[in-house]
Amino acid sequence: MGTFITLEGGEGTGKSTQSALLSKNLSARGKTVLQTREPGGTKNAEEIRNLLVSGNPDSWSPVAEALLMSAARDDHLRQSIVPALENDQFVVCDRFADSTLAYQGIAGGVSPELIQALETYVVREHIPDLTLIFDIDPEVGLDRAKARGQNLEDRFERKGLTFHHKLRQAFLEIGRKNPQRCVILDASQPIKDIEAGVWQIVSERFL
Ligand code: TMP
Repeated sequence: MGTFITLEGGEGTGKSTQSALLSKNLSARGKTVLQTREPGGTKNAEEIRNLLVSGNPDSWSPVAEALLMSAARDDHLRQSIVPALENDQFVVCDRFADSTLAYQGIAGGVSPELIQALETYVVREHIPDLTLIFDIDPEVGLDRAKARGQNLEDRFERKGLTFHHKLRQAFLEIGRKNPQRCVILDASQPIKDIEAGVWQIVSERFL
């Protein structure tokens, strides 16, 4: 089996940039990499993404979001992630099941039982080998996200500061509860320093 790495965190943490840099660095070392994201990564899952990331923040309830995220994840795992892992590849995935636990569960109020059931039936044994959690003050993160310019995918960004503070604590809690799998990184550092930190962790563990 290959190596499954996920990148997690709130809005504007720079994890998408780091996901691209990590994929590039792994490729430069001769590794075959699937760089992907959630919600999305397959045709069906990208269609579901379009339903979720734009429009009014209240247009879906947190339960509906968790179900849609999970439907997208099921397709993404079956069509894309699992075949890549079976081919001994690296999979670098920008967000995964911890985002459902943090956004819909802990910050959104969906019951832990439903979130756990979705993980049991959708994620199954495909738990990431490593999860990098990018931590930043949500006010800084949201400013960064806004500074990206016209963004049609801002439905979650507009959920309000209280939600985003809860979200930060949720990711920190996930990191603390899963110390073997998760590493928390200070996302306020310069891009180059974060890239070097990520590379040190990944190369020590997997190369
Ligand atoms: P992105 O902006 O990192 O591409 O992610 C899209 C949005 O989807 C982001 O605001 C977080 C949200 N999201 C959830 O709420 N739950 C999930 O399970 C996932 C994967 C993403």
